Amino acid sequence: MQRVFSGIQPSGIPTLGNYLGAIRNWIGMQRDHECIWCVVDLHAITGWQDPAALRRQTLEMAATLLACGVDPEKHILFLQSSVRAHAQLAWIFNCVARIGWLNRMTQFKEKAGKDRENASAGLYVYPNLMAADIHAYHATRVPVGDDQRQHLELANDIAKKFNFDYGVDFFPNIEPMILGPAARVMSLRDGTKKMSKTDPSDQSRINMNDDAETIALKIRRAKTDPEPLPCEVAGLEGRPEARNLVGIFAALAETEHTAVLRDFGGKGFGVFKEALAELMVSRLGPINDETRRWLDDESAILRILRDGADRAAAIADPIVAEAERLVGFIGLRPA
Ligand code: TYM
Repeated sequence: MQRVFSGIQPSGIPTLGNYLGAIRNWIGMQRDHECIWCVVDLHAITGWQDPAALRRQTLEMAATLLACGVDPEKHILFLQSSVRAHAQLAWIFNCVARIGWLNRMTQFKEKAGKDRENASAGLYVYPNLMAADIHAYHATRVPVGDDQRQHLELANDIAKKFNFDYGVDFFPNIEPMILGPAARVMSLRDGTKKMSKTDPSDQSRINMNDDAETIALKIRRAKTDPEPLPCEVAGLEGRPEARNLVGIFAALAETEHTAVLRDFGGKGFGVFKEALAELMVSRLGPINDETRRWLDDESAILRILRDGADRAAAIADPIVAEAERLVGFIGLRPA
C-alpha cells in the first residue's frame, strides 16, 4: 500500500478551495492508502500569527478535518510541531536545496510581495520544510491543490540531490495527486486570483464555517459577466469567473464541467447562482454542524492529536535518524 502525506496550514478558517482542492481528495484516498494528515503549524508562523489565534485555529482546523471525514484510527492526524523530525530533516534540506531553486518559487514571490527584504527567512525556506514533511515518512503520494505543484517538484529535486550527493537511493520520488474539477478554486471577487484563507476580503471566499445565509449572499454577490452560461466548455475561455463557478458546481456535484453546462448552458447567472448556493449549503452544512460538535469536546481532539503524534514520530524518527547517519552525524542523543 502506498503511503500518502499531506498538510494544511492553520493560518485561518479553511476555505472551500482547501476543501475541494485538497481535503475532499484526502478522504477519497483513505480507502486504499496508508495516510498521514498534518496540521502544519510550523509553516503557519512563516507569516505573523497571533499566538492565541493560532492555538484556536489549530484546533478548529483539526476539528474541520475530522468533520470532513479524516479517520484518525485507521490513519494518522497530528500537529507538525509535535514531531521534531520535521524540523530536523528540514535543516538538512536547507543545506541540500540551492538558493537558485528557492528563488524560482512563485509562491514566495507572491507572498513576500514588494517588501521582499522584510519577509521572514522561514517563508523563504518554506518549501524545504514541506519537502521534509513528506520525505520524513518516505511518502510517495501527495494530494494537493494545483498551487502546490511547484513545491512538490522542488521536493523531488531535493530528494534526487540528497541521493546523488550521498551516493544512496534513500528518498523515493513523490507523485503529486492534483485531482478533480476544482484543483484551483479562484476568488469570488477576481477569477484570476486564488481563493485564499488569508485574503483580506472575506467576500472573496467561502469559509467552511459560513452559515447558509452568508453562503447565499457571497454567491449572489460573486463577480460574473453579463453573458449567459455557454453550452460548451470551450465557451468558458476568457471568462475566468464563469469557469470558476462552473468548476465549483461540478466538484460539489461530483461531476464534470460538461455535465454542468448541459444543465445550465444558455441560462443566466441568476438561476445558476441560486442552484449553486443551494448545492453548497447542502454539502457544507453537515460538515459545519459536525465541526461544532467536535469543538465542543476539545479534549477528544487533543487525545487524537497526541496519539497521532506518537504514531507519526514512530515512523519519522528512524527515517530521519538514518538521514542524519548518511550525512555523517554521530547521532548521540541526550540520555
Ligand atoms: P494550504 O494550507 O495553503 O492549503 C492546504 C491545501 O489546500 C489546497 N488549496 C487549494 N486548492 C484549490 N483551490 C484553492 N484556492 C486552494 N487553496 C489551497 C492547497 O493546494 C493544499 O493542498 N504548503 C501547503 C501545506 C503543506 C503541505 C506539506 C502539503 C505543508 N507541508 C506537505 C502537502 C505536503 C499549504 O500551504 O497548504
